Amino acid sequence: MAEKGIPIKEPKGKLGVLLPGLGAVGSTVIAGVEMVRNGYAKPIGSLTQMATIRLGKRTEDRTPMIKDFVPLADLDDIVFGGWDIFPVNVYESALNANVLTKEDLNKVKPQLDAIKPMKAVFDKKYVKRLDGPNKKVGKNKMDLAEQLMDDMANFKKENNLDRIVIVWSGSTETYIEYDPVWDTLETFEKGMRENHDAISSSMIYAYAALKSGIPYANGAPHMTHDIPALDELAKKNNVAIAGKDFKTGQTFMKTLLAPGLKARMLGVHGWFSTNILGNRDGEVLDEPLSFKSKEVTKLSALEYIFQPKKNPELYGDLYHKVRINYYPPIGDNKEAWDNIDIFGWLGYPMQIKVDFLARDSILAAPVALDLALFIDLAQRAGMSGIQEWLSFYFKSPIVAKGLYPEHDIFIQLMKLKNTLRHLKGEDLITHLGLEYYD
Ligand SMILES: NC(=O)c1ccc[n+]([C@@H]2O[C@H](COP(=O)([O-])OP(=O)(O)OC[C@H]3O[C@@H](n4cnc5c(N)ncnc54)[C@H](O)[C@@H]3O)[C@@H](O)[C@H]2O)c1
Repeated sequence: MAEKGIPIKEPKGKLGVLLPGLGAVGSTVIAGVEMVRNGYAKPIGSLTQMATIRLGKRTEDRTPMIKDFVPLADLDDIVFGGWDIFPVNVYESALNANVLTKEDLNKVKPQLDAIKPMKAVFDKKYVKRLDGPNKKVGKNKMDLAEQLMDDMANFKKENNLDRIVIVWSGSTETYIEYDPVWDTLETFEKGMRENHDAISSSMIYAYAALKSGIPYANGAPHMTHDIPALDELAKKNNVAIAGKDFKTGQTFMKTLLAPGLKARMLGVHGWFSTNILGNRDGEVLDEPLSFKSKEVTKLSALEYIFQPKKNPELYGDLYHKVRINYYPPIGDNKEAWDNIDIFGWLGYPMQIKVDFLARDSILAAPVALDLALFIDLAQRAGMSGIQEWLSFYFKSPIVAKGLYPEHDIFIQLMKLKNTLRHLKGEDLITHLGLEYYD
C-alpha cells in the first residue's frame, strides 16, 4: 500500500547555484548547463535530466522521468555564481581548464562572460600549491564568514532568486587532524573569532551557508561540514547537507567492480590503483597533505564493500594501494589504472586490469548538477541534516554517527530511488516479486 508522501514546496522562481571554486569542474558544469538549455548538447550522465524511475509493479508499466516525478528546479531557472581566487570570468576559466572546446564555449560565451567570481575566502595554509589575488580581507574568520553571508544575500537579491544551494567545487584542502574546536557550535564560533588554525577556508563557507539556511554539498575530500559543530548548526537551522568527494573516475569503477566480485564470493588479494592527471586539481593533489585528504576517501570504499572482518578468508589480507601522479601533458584527461589480484574456486589466482581513459570534469559536472537539484529538493521537502540518500554521488559518504557508510553503487542507487518514491508516497521497491507467481 502506498504511503502518504511528504509535502514538498514547489520549486517556484529562480534557484541560485553558488560554487566556491570556478575551475575545471565549476566552469564545465556551468558551460554544460548553458549548452543544454540552449539546445546544443544533451545532459549525459545526469540522473535528474535523463533517468527514469520505475513505480509500482513491473506489470504496471509506470516509468516516468525522475524530473517529471519529483518537483525539481528546471534548468532554465538556475542562476549560477561563485567565488574564486582568480579574478577571471567563467569563459576564461573554462578556456584555461581546457576541458570543453573553444568552439563549444563560444556558443554560450555571453552567458559565461557574465559570471565573474566573487572574492574568495582563501588561506594558502590549506591549499599549499595555489595562490591568487581575488581574496577577501577580514579581521578574523568570523568577519570573513559574515562577508560571505553578505555575498549570498546580495546574490539572492540582485538576481531575484527564490532560494540558493552551494556545491563546493574548489580545490582540495590539506588534511587536518581533529581539534576540540570542532566539538560544538560554541567552541567553533569562538575559534572563528580567534582565527583558530583548525578552521579551514571551506569550513568558513559552510558555516556561512548553514547560518544563512542554505544547503551545502561538498565535492572535495577534505573535512568541512562533517564536524560536530557544523552538523549541530545544520540541525539547528534545519538545513540539508551532503558529502563528500564526487564519485567519478577510479572510485566509481571500484564501486562497480567490487560489489560484483563480492556478490560471487570471489576473493581479492590485492588492488593497486594509480592515476596520472594533469589538471590544476592534479597539481594541488601532488602536495602530500592535500593528497592525504584524497587518499583517506579513496581507500575507504573497498574496506566497506568487502567487509574483511566478516569475510576474512576472501578479503582478510587485501593489500590496497592508491597513487595519484601529477602529469601535466594530459591535462584534464586523466588515466586511471587498476591491477586487481583476485582468486576463485580452490584459491586459484586470476587478474583483472582496468585502464580508464577518463575526462575528470566531464564525469564530475553532471554529479555537481544533480547534487544541486537534489539537495534543493531535500530542503523543500523539509529533509534537514545529512542526506545519506545522496551517497550515490560521493566517494566518502557522510552518514549519521555510529553508522558505516554504504559504498556499493547499486545499493546507493536503490536508496536514492526509494527515497524519491517515499517522498511521493509510492510503494518502495524491494525486488521481492513473489506476487507475480501467486
Ligand atoms: N573532477 C573530478 O572528477 C573530481 C572528482 C572528485 C572530486 N573532485 C574535486 O573537485 C574539486 C574541483 O576540481 P577541479 O578539477 O575543478 O579543480 P580546479 O583546480 O580546476 O578548480 C578548483 C578551483 O577552486 C579555486 N579555489 C581554491 N580554493 C578556493 C577557495 N577557498 N575559495 C574559492 N575558490 C577556491 C581554485 O582557484 C580553482 O580555480 C577538487 O577539490 C577536486 O578534488 C573532482
